[in-house]
Amino acid sequence: YLQFILWSYRMNIKPIVAGNWKMNASKDAVKSLVNGILSGMGDVSAEVLVCAPFPYLSQVETLISGSSLMLGAQNLNVNVSGAFTGEVSAEMIKDFGAKHVIVGHSERRSLYGETSEIVAKKTKAAIDSGLTPLLCIGESLDQRESGNTEAVISEQLTTVVRLTGIEAFKNIIIAYEPVWAIGTGMTATPEQAQAVHMFIRNLLASSNQDIAEKTPILYGGSMNAGNALELISCPDIDGGLIGGAALKAEDFLQICKAG
Ligand code: PGA
Repeated sequence: YLQFILWSYRMNIKPIVAGNWKMNASKDAVKSLVNGILSGMGDVSAEVLVCAPFPYLSQVETLISGSSLMLGAQNLNVNVSGAFTGEVSAEMIKDFGAKHVIVGHSERRSLYGETSEIVAKKTKAAIDSGLTPLLCIGESLDQRESGNTEAVISEQLTTVVRLTGIEAFKNIIIAYEPVWAIGTGMTATPEQAQAVHMFIRNLLASSNQDIAEKTPILYGGSMNAGNALELISCPDIDGGLIGGAALKAEDFLQICKAG
């Protein structure tokens, strides 16, 4: 009964669908993608955002002006400003109207050496500046097969909680992205995803029940127009972080409608 109450309460939380374009863009492609998404937004009740590569933030800001589509970035530096050649700060991202930023994506962890400590600092930098971080966590195939999924998730999440405090999670969106499902077409089953989402929520609840219930937890990893509805229908899945399928307006819109 209590589970049902919590679930009905959580039914009021608006689903979130976020596109992660990664390093895929050109001025022409961005223009037709964003205009395509905007043309179908009338039927969408989910909150929708697109995370663009830095050089295109300005273009997307202009294109989405006056619409409900929101803009995010894919990374940030932990410092406010200064001698950090090639880096981009939270303030710069905000300057282009972005409200969100992805932190701790598995590609940043595995290809650019971002440890959980660095991810925690980036999460804090985003919050301190008023950006909403999309905090990505998830296990590799090896880690899953060796029975370490919960240990990995727990380490990634508690490292952030320790630095930011649980209260910060009022302004954090979590994205559970099993590394083995990213860009592979190998989506987690709704049962597999729901189990980890519930684990994440329970982990937050051990610090603060109310915040745990309100924290949006998105699923990411080969989510597409065909499987989005089934995944987002799970009680602890509050939306999706979409890579490949976010690059085609039609596919992305179908996922948004599922949301
Ligand atoms: P994918 O990527 O949808 O292409 O699997 C998701 C992500 O990496 O955020």
